[in-house]
Amino acid sequence: MSATPGFADAAQKWNRRYTEAADGLLFGAAPNAWLATQAGRLVPGGRWLSVADGEGRNSVWLARQGLKVDAFDIADVAVAKARAFAAAQGVAVNYAVAGVDDLAWPDAVYDGIAAIFVQFADPAMRQRLFNGLVRALKPGGLLLLQGYTPRQLDYRTGGPGQAAHLYTPEQLRQELAALQIEELREYDDDLAEGSAHRGRSALVGLVARKP
Ligand SMILES: C[S@@+](CC[C@H](N)C(=O)[O-])C[C@H]1O[C@@H](n2cnc3c(N)ncnc32)[C@H](O)[C@@H]1O
Repeated sequence: MSATPGFADAAQKWNRRYTEAADGLLFGAAPNAWLATQAGRLVPGGRWLSVADGEGRNSVWLARQGLKVDAFDIADVAVAKARAFAAAQGVAVNYAVAGVDDLAWPDAVYDGIAAIFVQFADPAMRQRLFNGLVRALKPGGLLLLQGYTPRQLDYRTGGPGQAAHLYTPEQLRQELAALQIEELREYDDDLAEGSAHRGRSALVGLVARKP
């Protein structure tokens, strides 16, 4: 398994992918389908964070649900696209160019955090990321997380292609033991998210709350 690249490498790699996206948006304009199924859990007015938000499809959708949204991503090309997308949609999102390891994770400020396909993180970075997420949630705050499971290595329709970056339900239970799990579903579905996530996919969706 290759190690997760540092900031400059990761930013360069992702900027290239976003610049070369054939149809403009690498992951499309619609929110992640699983995230959209969670709309009923959102309390308008709450403060949310969208982690490694990419081109803004999830942050813009969250803002449209009446939430105050912060979002960050390591790729400045993606953040520029996200800013333009939010402006075109007439919503305000507070965007930042930052990597998981550069962020000063604040203490207990978010009512919710969306972490959708953040599997660039190897196990060591994932530990730091999960620690940051747990810290940044307010007591009662919600984590909504979607990722691929190891069976995605057979489908090869998106994702990092490195087993150690993928999630099993049992691993999420262990690594996020500080949270109370409200829903943890492993399932297959057909994704149509831009050109990057397309076809039959092995997925996991997690809803967890900070006690
Ligand atoms: C699979 S994409 C998902 C983007 C977005 N969450 C979505 O669902 O559309 C992964 C994102 O992680 C970003 N990324 C990669 N390494 C990162 C890091 N160390 N810190 C923050 N973002 C990172 C990439 O630029 C990319 O936008």
